[in-house]
Amino acid sequence: MATLFVDLFGKTLRNPVMNASGTLGYGREIDPLWSVDTLGAYVTKGLSLKPHHGNPPPRVWEEGRGMLNSIGLQNVGLKRFFAEHFPLFRKRNTPIVVNFFGFTDEEYIECAASIEPDPLIVALEINLSCPNVTKGGICMGKEARGVFSIIKRVKETTPIPVIAKLTPEVADIVEIAQAAVSAGADGITLINTMPGAAIDLGTGRMAFRGGLSGPALKPIALKAVADVSRAVPVPVIGAGGIMDHEDAIRFLMAGARAIQVGTATFIDPFAIPKILAGLAAFMDEHGLSRLSALAGATHD
Ligand code: FUM
Repeated sequence: MATLFVDLFGKTLRNPVMNASGTLGYGREIDPLWSVDTLGAYVTKGLSLKPHHGNPPPRVWEEGRGMLNSIGLQNVGLKRFFAEHFPLFRKRNTPIVVNFFGFTDEEYIECAASIEPDPLIVALEINLSCPNVTKGGICMGKEARGVFSIIKRVKETTPIPVIAKLTPEVADIVEIAQAAVSAGADGITLINTMPGAAIDLGTGRMAFRGGLSGPALKPIALKAVADVSRAVPVPVIGAGGIMDHEDAIRFLMAGARAIQVGTATFIDPFAIPKILAGLAAFMDEHGLSRLSALAGATHD
């Protein structure tokens, strides 16, 4: 029987499959369907120092081979997450990755400083995009200098490993990832959504603007993972249009150490357990005993 265990930042996760930030609520929404301990690690919705109301509806828009979302970073805030939602993960002994953001540089630093280390916290995932917010969301994720500076300050603030989650809306994602790593980032998540829009044919109105996710994003994400994982010495976590176990395997072959599943769960809430079952079956069929046999197997 194949094992799906994966080592990440000094911890051993039971498998490499996480949810993408913001796509499983606070865990309790999915837990009645399948226990959160199915995941290698649960990734929180992006959390800020204070609760944030987000954008008015509509917040999601189905679009051909993808989905646009404009949630606007709604969240309950770090304090409430740890008081009300973290106990579920403790009860289920499930590791978590804390995705966080700030509206100013100082808020990023304060967020990171306020998160107490805990054996269940695998890493902090810093959201360096500023999707779907008009007020003050800083876009330092788009240029290497800004990424270097914020990661360096965050790393000085916390002993918890830090993962930089990068936007694909840049000229050279390898350059941005290298800046994050030289500032001390322990890992890179690739990629966040790509800004997009939908137009109503009848009225000509710009009906929706938001971040594009789902299968349409997959080729962009796969290229980013392949390019960045060859260029940096830290683990890369792949995200972007992973719909089934075959997609998951492609990302692992491209060089991802772990993967995140987002939009697939909106189509099928059982997508994550199905991906895990498919991954294990693939390993057994191909006589592979460890995931590392797939690592970076992609070649030109
Ligand atoms: O609108 C949102 O809350 C999106 C967040 C993200 O993509 O990081």
